[in-house]
Amino acid sequence: MTENEAKKRIDELRKALHYHNYRYYVLDDPIISDSEYDSLLIELKELEEKFPEFYDENSPTVKVGGKPLNKFDKVEHRIPMVSLDDGFSDNEIRDFDSKVKKFLGVSHNEVIDYSVEPKFDGLSIDLIYKNGKLEVASTRGDGFVGENVTQNVRTIKNVPLVLSLENPPVYIDVQGEVLLTKEEFNKINSERMEKGLQPFANPRNAAAGSIRQLDPKETAKRNLIMIMYYIRQIDGYGRKILTQHESLEVLKEIGFPISEYNELAHGIEKAIEYKKELEKIRDSLPYELDGVVIKVDRFDFQEKLGFTTKSPRWAIAFKFPAEQATTKILDIQVNVGRTGILTPVAILEPVNIGGVTVSRASLHTMDEIEKKDIMIGDTVFVQRAGDVIPEVVKPVKDLRDGTQRPFKMPDRCPVCGSKVIKDGAYYMCSNINCPSALKESIKHFVSRKAMNIDGFGDKIVEQLVDKGIVKDVSDIYTLDKETLMSLDRVGEKLAENLLTSIERSKGTTFAKFIYALGIRHVGEYVAKLLAERFRNLENLKESTKEKLLGINGIGEEIANSVVSFFSEKRNLDTIDKLLSYGVHFEDKKKEQSKISGNSFVFTGTLSKPRGYFKELVEKKGGIVRSSMSKNLDYLVVGDNPGSKLNRAESLGVKIINERELLKLLEE
Ligand code: IVH
Repeated sequence: MTENEAKKRIDELRKALHYHNYRYYVLDDPIISDSEYDSLLIELKELEEKFPEFYDENSPTVKVGGKPLNKFDKVEHRIPMVSLDDGFSDNEIRDFDSKVKKFLGVSHNEVIDYSVEPKFDGLSIDLIYKNGKLEVASTRGDGFVGENVTQNVRTIKNVPLVLSLENPPVYIDVQGEVLLTKEEFNKINSERMEKGLQPFANPRNAAAGSIRQLDPKETAKRNLIMIMYYIRQIDGYGRKILTQHESLEVLKEIGFPISEYNELAHGIEKAIEYKKELEKIRDSLPYELDGVVIKVDRFDFQEKLGFTTKSPRWAIAFKFPAEQATTKILDIQVNVGRTGILTPVAILEPVNIGGVTVSRASLHTMDEIEKKDIMIGDTVFVQRAGDVIPEVVKPVKDLRDGTQRPFKMPDRCPVCGSKVIKDGAYYMCSNINCPSALKESIKHFVSRKAMNIDGFGDKIVEQLVDKGIVKDVSDIYTLDKETLMSLDRVGEKLAENLLTSIERSKGTTFAKFIYALGIRHVGEYVAKLLAERFRNLENLKESTKEKLLGINGIGEEIANSVVSFFSEKRNLDTIDKLLSYGVHFEDKKKEQSKISGNSFVFTGTLSKPRGYFKELVEKKGGIVRSSMSKNLDYLVVGDNPGSKLNRAESLGVKIINERELLKLLEE
């Protein structure tokens, strides 16, 4: 291939890939399959490697991240990035409406149209495109000067690097929010905890941490997304824009991802209703919202209203109640986990946080307690986010009255009385047979993401250990009906069901089996990595530290823990017993079924967590998506469905309930 031919092909491939990104990420309506997309991308990558002279920082191949930086440069915003005023009650929002009318000099009876939009709880980012190419991406900073994070923003999959338009605007400055989905946030946090790192308190902090990585390859791994909501300036674009809701349409037309929940509200009461509707479906959305933004729709009105020094007069954020609350620490108790680690837990005066009553919160480690300066009797901020256990954020020191007392780690294990030893930041029970650790490891072993033994609740585990019936996890497979019926509150029916669940759990996957073993620092994600790399138990047992460290995502701590687990005879014996009782794992090919290849979206509340249904669908070869498109096969509707239901109706998507889904899965 000559240089000229290569250049021509590279240009064609780049153009095609930018267009397919737009179909996929903005329109949610791809017209080629993932593997077709991949083959175009691979062809481009190979050509770019052979002809490095045609490097382009906006090539679709840069999504994996370029070279690391030493620091971020500063960017001065040509137009300051202001923030929004907040309102928390319906009346504050009505006051805002009155003020708008007064300022505009229109009668109180006049009805103002408002563009109503979700308020995304992420990180505000400004993007500037010149002649259709991404030029600079910057953080808000202090509103006047931000940081240049272009390299990192380039790795965000749904951010267009090049606008797929015949005549893109000559200049466009747009603002949007960088976010992490709750799923991605929980994944990052479990990886962090497996590595012994402090989890992020909420998706917002995690997104901010991800965008401020000096190495763009790290940012690329975080799977951030961006949603745009504001055109700050646009020059040289054919279409005249008169309102905010039109400008959102224009954003989409130009190739930017926007929210599917934007609406136009005729009058402030409709805007208040919109907030209530969105609040209902808030938990079922894939990312976090902290309220809605209400914007005067007409641009001529916006211009008249203008800005104060810190915010526009034409918009207000109507915030949802915070997922944070203050309460009192009544006591600090110590839990003994399955690896024998002692974890301090705050016993709280029960408090409602975002609709959930919280009465316990993790304090992680003694170091954390000292660092945050937390005392028993303190009034504290408590926060809840995603699947993370509620966390004590910090004490309100002003409210101390002398009755507070410091917490001290016990010298003896609160469960078995053995000596407590210190291992780095951790305090551990020195007794490897500590019954508490055994109970926890059994609870972990039977849990849904591990061996998934349905109905094997905590009360049963406690009794089995206390009575000395189960001495290690393999003893579960020796249980018979009579023994089970000798336990409190276990009748014949329950005993039979338990035995069926136990029997069924014997066939599992290698990854779940590894996870179930409860190796320290090996969570669900690392277990999957190990299963993929080693394929079978023999290989895994013989793995060395060097081999383990060769796996991307596995560090020193995990490697040491895996090696030490398999060097312990007691653990090897347990594994042998499990296998001899019939536990087996083949990573079966995905089952062929009626729903193979069909796509599903969930909305509303179902009888079990979404993850449960997702797993069932995927096991049968179905695909679970988070957003609607006309190619979607099924919308599964639970209680209080969101606006997806209306969209499904208008798109002609098949709508089913949970019972119908289960029936489909059986076929
Ligand atoms: S409009 C001039 N719309 O909320 C007005 N902001 O608390 C520009 N935010 O700094 C902002 N969702 O980071 C707007 N739909 C939305 C938003 C939104 C989230 C953020 C943005 C802003 C902050 C203010």
